Amino acid sequence: MMSLVAALDYPLDLAPTTALKPRLRVVLLGCGTVNSGVLAGLEDMPGQVEIAAIVTRRPRNESEGAYAWLTDLTAAFDTGPDLVIDALPDCAAAEKALALAVERGVHVISANKAVIARRPDLEAKARRAGLGFAYSAAVGGGVPVLETVARLKASGETITRVRGVLNGTSNFVLGLLEKGIGFDDAIAAAQAAGFAEEDPSADLDGLDAAAKLALIARAAFDIAPDPYAIPADSLFDLSVGQILGARENGLRYRQLAELSVQAEGVVATVRLQALPEDHALARVENEENAVEIDCASGTRIVLNGKGAGQTPTAGSVLSDVRALLANGGAG
Ligand SMILES: NC(=O)c1ccc[n+]([C@@H]2O[C@H](COP(=O)([O-])OP(=O)(O)OC[C@H]3O[C@@H](n4cnc5c(N)ncnc54)[C@H](OP(=O)(O)O)[C@@H]3O)[C@@H](O)[C@H]2O)c1
Repeated sequence: MMSLVAALDYPLDLAPTTALKPRLRVVLLGCGTVNSGVLAGLEDMPGQVEIAAIVTRRPRNESEGAYAWLTDLTAAFDTGPDLVIDALPDCAAAEKALALAVERGVHVISANKAVIARRPDLEAKARRAGLGFAYSAAVGGGVPVLETVARLKASGETITRVRGVLNGTSNFVLGLLEKGIGFDDAIAAAQAAGFAEEDPSADLDGLDAAAKLALIARAAFDIAPDPYAIPADSLFDLSVGQILGARENGLRYRQLAELSVQAEGVVATVRLQALPEDHALARVENEENAVEIDCASGTRIVLNGKGAGQTPTAGSVLSDVRALLANGGAG
């Protein structure tokens, strides 16, 4: 029997997975739910990444690990990073940081769908400069939505429709409303479970799903719709009575984000729709996400999984880091 070593056509110490990876100096932007998971993953990649600094809003003291904790963005860029990993909330600081990264020739990996969706110019500029600019975690958390769209396109498929439950918080809240729990208590439970932010309006009013649609549209159709211009229903437009009435008739309300190719072009909407309870998109529970991708060839791909939470989201960010390393640090 041939041994494993004999089967390789290069010496083990020159195996491309180890020998060709460059070392990246990384600045983490934010260290909350997502980036604390990313930090733990990066600590398991010695020799490939080095943490140059971590930026947070509140100052940290020296006892919080052996890292340079900073609150000043410019000082963080002065550490000379190759890569920034952005897991800041949707805020002016995040927009400033990503603009600064592109200006200074620093690769970007981000989980921040809001900023990436409303600033398509940053991605375009980064790509023109040959920089890495990846945001797998921004859509679907751990569900590989953007990756699947890119793969379908690369295989020559023409995508005609993408439809799904893209906002785990709304889905979680809808699940509680279906049990007869009122809005205030359902939102409080989502916040206590760590799925809803202090101000949950971007999730419940459909803006978060609209931002994700804008990113899918960029990947699928090379267009950059303004997330604020995508028509969206608000969960607050539904009453608990309507939701319970639908349940009695075998229907479940879901916040459905949809992109479809129509005669007039690509149409994007975020709608609250009552689906038959055995429909794949109606069976999505709690904070899960699910997406159907239809192609002109008749191919339909259905993805589902954890749409939020530290482990799946940090896992997606880390897969972008590994892809950048495998690509020799280039975009
Ligand atoms: N959580 C998820 O499951 C998930 C999934 C997909 C995408 N995302 C996206 O990932 C991003 C981060 O989410 P998260 O849940 O990790 O948020 P988070 O837990 O609230 O953490 C945010 C971090 O950003 C820091 N920060 C906030 N404002 C800042 C400012 N002005 N300057 C410097 N640092 C600042 C905070 O600092 P302090 O620690 O000092 O407060 C904190 O470390 C968001 O854009 C979110 O939409 C999250």
